[in-house]
Amino acid sequence: MTVLVTGASGVAGRATCLLLRERGYTVKMADASAPPAELRDLGEFVRCDTRTPADCRQAVRGCEAVIHLAAWHCAHVPPVSDDTIWAVNTDGTYNIMMASREFGIKAFVYASSMAYGHGGVYSLTKVVGEEMARGYHHMTGAGVTLLRYHDFVPKPYLAFGEKLLRNGVDTRDVASSNVASVEAALKGGLGVFRTIVHTNHGMPVEVVANFRDLGPDWCESQLPGARDLMRKYNFDLPHRVEQHDMSEAKEKLGWTPQHNFLEFLRDLQTRDERGDDVHSLWAPGLLPPL
Ligand SMILES: NC(=O)c1ccc[n+]([C@@H]2O[C@H](COP(=O)([O-])OP(=O)(O)OC[C@H]3O[C@@H](n4cnc5c(N)ncnc54)[C@H](O)[C@@H]3O)[C@@H](O)[C@H]2O)c1
Repeated sequence: MTVLVTGASGVAGRATCLLLRERGYTVKMADASAPPAELRDLGEFVRCDTRTPADCRQAVRGCEAVIHLAAWHCAHVPPVSDDTIWAVNTDGTYNIMMASREFGIKAFVYASSMAYGHGGVYSLTKVVGEEMARGYHHMTGAGVTLLRYHDFVPKPYLAFGEKLLRNGVDTRDVASSNVASVEAALKGGLGVFRTIVHTNHGMPVEVVANFRDLGPDWCESQLPGARDLMRKYNFDLPHRVEQHDMSEAKEKLGWTPQHNFLEFLRDLQTRDERGDDVHSLWAPGLLPPL
């Protein structure tokens, strides 16, 4: 089973390719940028600009499933122009879909975003992209997932931890949602399925609703020392934790997020006890091992 990952050299692409390989898939990687070192021996890499139909055909040929991540978003520094965002995210998606139709792709994962419908060119490209992906199902009968990821742009480690309580998600959960989507689509009968991809903290509802007051005690009950740790690192705690119902994703894709704030605190505690300079670390996915 060969799965194409477009945008393979990017943050989600790398994590997704590594996970696919771990699960026993043959991975074909496509990107306009060269692959990072950790992908070099993973499988075939195709230099592909998704704005070019022939590149897309070369990328999709020989695959059974496509995880389409290649896009520009608004977090790049210096920023990518709106015109380029539009061209890559819409024309590029169209070209990948047409190549997918030509080569009979039966499982198609579309990387959408919580930015969907929030205004701005990037947001608009995700609206158009979701509609195109829906159309791909209607044209071909393929199983299509539209995944509205929360924020996984790499950040300083402590900011990443705080972000998890708001609109942050761990890249590993993004990757596992992609792989679960392929598996569900290949089983058949998925149709078009859309879900939010976010963190699940496993907190009681009253803690979610009033985290600033109840969160530190609840964290302490799960992880002795957590309260002091949050004080020591001066966490800016949200009044309420952002949580979404992802039960349908569990039912339809067999996917649930695995990485959350408590896990982050456990990691921080170990690094703190060891004397790591956590202010110099970046996360997720770029951490040195514990
Ligand atoms: N990072 C986030 O927080 C976030 C949140 C929601 C949705 N998304 C979406 O998830 C997907 C992956 O995001 P990411 O953060 O991994 O992005 P990234 O910028 O790290 O990776 C995107 C990859 O796409 C490649 N690319 C750009 N133009 C291309 C082209 N014309 N042809 C081929 N490849 C091209 C880039 O070289 C890059 O390797 C994107 O579709 C993005 O819009 C990201």
